[in-house]
Amino acid sequence: MPMKIIISGYGKMGKEIEKIATERNHSIVAIIDTEKDWKNFIKNPLSADVVIDFSTPSTAVGNIKRCFALNLRIVTGTTGWNDQLKAIKTLCLSNNQAMFYASNFSIGVNIFFEVNKKLAQLMKSQEQYEVFLEETHHLQKIDSPSGTAITLANEIIKNIDRKKDWINTKEKNDSSVEIKSIRAENITGIHTIFYESSVDTIEIKHIAKNRIGFAVGAVLAAEWIQGKKGFFEMKDLLNF
Ligand SMILES: NC(=O)c1ccc[n+]([C@@H]2O[C@H](COP(=O)([O-])OP(=O)(O)OC[C@H]3O[C@@H](n4cnc5c(N)ncnc54)[C@H](O)[C@@H]3O)[C@@H](O)[C@H]2O)c1
Repeated sequence: MPMKIIISGYGKMGKEIEKIATERNHSIVAIIDTEKDWKNFIKNPLSADVVIDFSTPSTAVGNIKRCFALNLRIVTGTTGWNDQLKAIKTLCLSNNQAMFYASNFSIGVNIFFEVNKKLAQLMKSQEQYEVFLEETHHLQKIDSPSGTAITLANEIIKNIDRKKDWINTKEKNDSSVEIKSIRAENITGIHTIFYESSVDTIEIKHIAKNRIGFAVGAVLAAEWIQGKKGFFEMKDLLNF
């Protein structure tokens, strides 16, 4: 069914969403790219089937709350606001709204999340291995570490008792999963998990070649959330 879509955040991802959505016969009824655009939109709101938000870490939560207030379904891939995720989920459910959040919308990364979980379960009792993560992204990325790296680290922490939290600094300690963040020219996103012992290294890696996979996943999520109420994630869409 063709949908009416509002794009919130018309940067690298917003433009990719526009392309994929149009290819799938959906129409873009509004493009919002600044605080001022949102204020103008609220004065004269349009109806739409969904808002797809790829904005900035500091504006994402405000945009989600605006969508709840306007009874607009929201699909958001914006990262860097993890500390408020629990509160937003509660707000979504208590206000009977519909929201879909993924720190990474790529199908491949979500398969990688499952492989990471399985590997962590296997490594739970293998204390001779130290686990750490590395994420590399383009120079414009605002948040650090990436939302995807945080999701990967949290799954490791859930499964490996000797790990209690993650750190993104050079000060290593035995109970934290270290996440190294690297910023370099023209890298869409690379995530690697290392398990290192004195005799070997096990490494799993995902390399995003471009942004198309993220945009396709977000548009699929927007299609899937139609007619639903609640808070959803990729595991709901993919049936993992
Ligand atoms: N979940 C995923 O699969 C996934 C994939 C890629 C990127 N991301 C995340 O999506 C976000 C956007 O990434 P990008 O590469 O497109 O960034 P970008 O910097 O290219 O685009 C962000 C856009 O948001 C706009 N903006 C600023 N304030 C706004 C507001 N109040 N409301 C709406 N838009 C506003 C900016 O003008 C800009 O055009 C980042 O947080 C990034 O980490 C997530």
